Amino acid sequence: MKYKNILVEKKNTSVGLITLNRPKAYNALSSALISEVSDAVKKFEEDNNIGAIVLTGGDKVFAAGADIKELSELDFVTAYTSEYITKNWQALEKHKKPIIAAVSGVALGGGCELALMCDIIICDTSAKFGQPEIKLGTMPGIGGTQRLVRIIGKSKAMQMCLTGDMINAQEAKNYNLVADVFKEGTVLEEAILMAEKISRMSQPIVRLIKESINNAYETTLQAGLESERKYFYTTFNLEDKTEGMNAFIEKRKAKFINK
Ligand code: CAA
Repeated sequence: MKYKNILVEKKNTSVGLITLNRPKAYNALSSALISEVSDAVKKFEEDNNIGAIVLTGGDKVFAAGADIKELSELDFVTAYTSEYITKNWQALEKHKKPIIAAVSGVALGGGCELALMCDIIICDTSAKFGQPEIKLGTMPGIGGTQRLVRIIGKSKAMQMCLTGDMINAQEAKNYNLVADVFKEGTVLEEAILMAEKISRMSQPIVRLIKESINNAYETTLQAGLESERKYFYTTFNLEDKTEGMNAFIEKRKAKFINK
């Protein structure tokens, strides 16, 4: 697939970098752009050298949401029967490798929801997050009323979705929407460093941890703890567990082989 709306590259062989690239439209998430992102994620998932993915919109804007010009032409029957959201966004919802969203500037509507689909969000001080769909006579449709509330809580999610007001980087940090806030111009570098660090870990363990944390959103505490315990015991089958513990005891750096 030849990409027209995104830039894709590998950083230091182990990190997949995807940059949304429709600067004139504030990186509006057209169907074409989202299917390119899904395709790029799928390709990085198939590449055994890639341990983690970074998704960014560049240093000025993350994304101003779904493409309003495209949405303005959609009617209910077309949206519903063509599975407008499912078909374009599903690969992003089901990704296995960790994705870090590196946010500068606005992440609005579908842009905020895209960041929420990632595993870790970090941003710089220019970042602003919002769900302004209500001002367009519609509502969030890709997780804004679901993922957001589980992270920032009901009251703030209600306020954001019902007023359409944005929150800034510091507020996003206070509400645990982002893991860290960095100086303007440095968030991409930080995201790549974090992705490299994750890539150096044992990849089966990375996957187990990611799955286990995501399970916490889907299950009761007891069921989650039970499945976590089984995942934990599973790691005792891995050569990487032997290597990790021996390395600690021998006071050296572990060299994981993903087995
Ligand atoms: N879709 C399509 N085009 C968009 C866009 C979007 N979401 N956001 C910005 N653009 C385009 C504008 O139409 C404009 O294009 P032209 O130059 O061709 O006119 C260009 O980007 C620059 O935008 P502005 O002139 O508006 O720039 P600004 O600096 O004054 O404002 C902004 C920037 C605050 C991001 C403003 O553009 C804005 O509010 N955008 C819309 C945000 C929004 O409502 N997002 C929700 C979308 S709906 C959604 O996402 C639904 C869902 O959950 C699935």
